[in-house]
Amino acid sequence: MSLELRPLHNLFAAEASGIDLREPLDPPLVQAVEDAMDRYAVLVFRDQPLSQAQQIRFAESFGPLDLGLRKLHPGAAHRFDYEALIDISNVAADGSLARRDSRKVVSNIANQLWHSDSSFQQPKAQYSMLSAVVLPPKGGETEFADLRAAYDALPADLQHEINGLEAEHYALHSRILLGDTGYTEAQMAMIPPVRWPLAQIHPGSGRKLLFVGVHAREIVGYSLAEGRMLLSDLLEHATQRAFVYRHEWRVGDLVMWDNRCTIHRGRRYDLNERRELRRSTTEDLLPARMVA
Ligand code: OGA
Ligand code: MN
Repeated sequence: MSLELRPLHNLFAAEASGIDLREPLDPPLVQAVEDAMDRYAVLVFRDQPLSQAQQIRFAESFGPLDLGLRKLHPGAAHRFDYEALIDISNVAADGSLARRDSRKVVSNIANQLWHSDSSFQQPKAQYSMLSAVVLPPKGGETEFADLRAAYDALPADLQHEINGLEAEHYALHSRILLGDTGYTEAQMAMIPPVRWPLAQIHPGSGRKLLFVGVHAREIVGYSLAEGRMLLSDLLEHATQRAFVYRHEWRVGDLVMWDNRCTIHRGRRYDLNERRELRRSTTEDLLPARMVA
């Protein structure tokens, strides 16, 4: 078996074929996938309907797994056999369609804001792998933006301004933006904010990148207003169409992305239709490298 790659966009993202993700990957194949990720940052594997156990095994080939926001709700009911499999769906723990005003649907909608998974915590996410199980008849695509291309395209004076700056990322910022404010003091304290450089160096490619997204709520050393406005301008810059790959899902797709150098968002769909995907995510264990 050998990995074949077909570019899907002129900057990043490729369709990957030639390997069977249901089987254990030997170390050279894991290395080949990592090398492809360093180059393309988003890999689309078609026709790979994985069982829960197969998805966990595939994900664990790339490092320890992250639990996302599940740690806010320890012991909460869920539908999967593994704590580390994240239920990206509008379906409640009992299998029924979740209510539109439920927290489950709010967090689904929060995924429609541009973000890098778990950038609100240390360690943040390295790779996420999302597997499509049930899809709505229309909508519900996922878009990815290339943060390396975004950095390269910034005017030199803005690159100079953001080099050396840090942003503070907070887990509940996106939820609060969407009006989901009913968290207890204990829950709010459970995931303290973290700081990440705005301009970083991507370990696998050595390229510079612009690390923005909805979890970033302020710039350290700037007033709240000035920092938020700059973050909003930078996010708008990073997500211009030229830097975006839009994935139209088919059941059995597995899409894998590098959260260190891309951001993503889901697109709207009819919440009366089921949309069910399963996510596994690895932790980013390398220290962030700031562009000084
Ligand atoms: C995710 C996510 C977007 C989508 O799974 O991390 O943000 O389209 N998903 O469901
Ligand atoms: Mn996400």
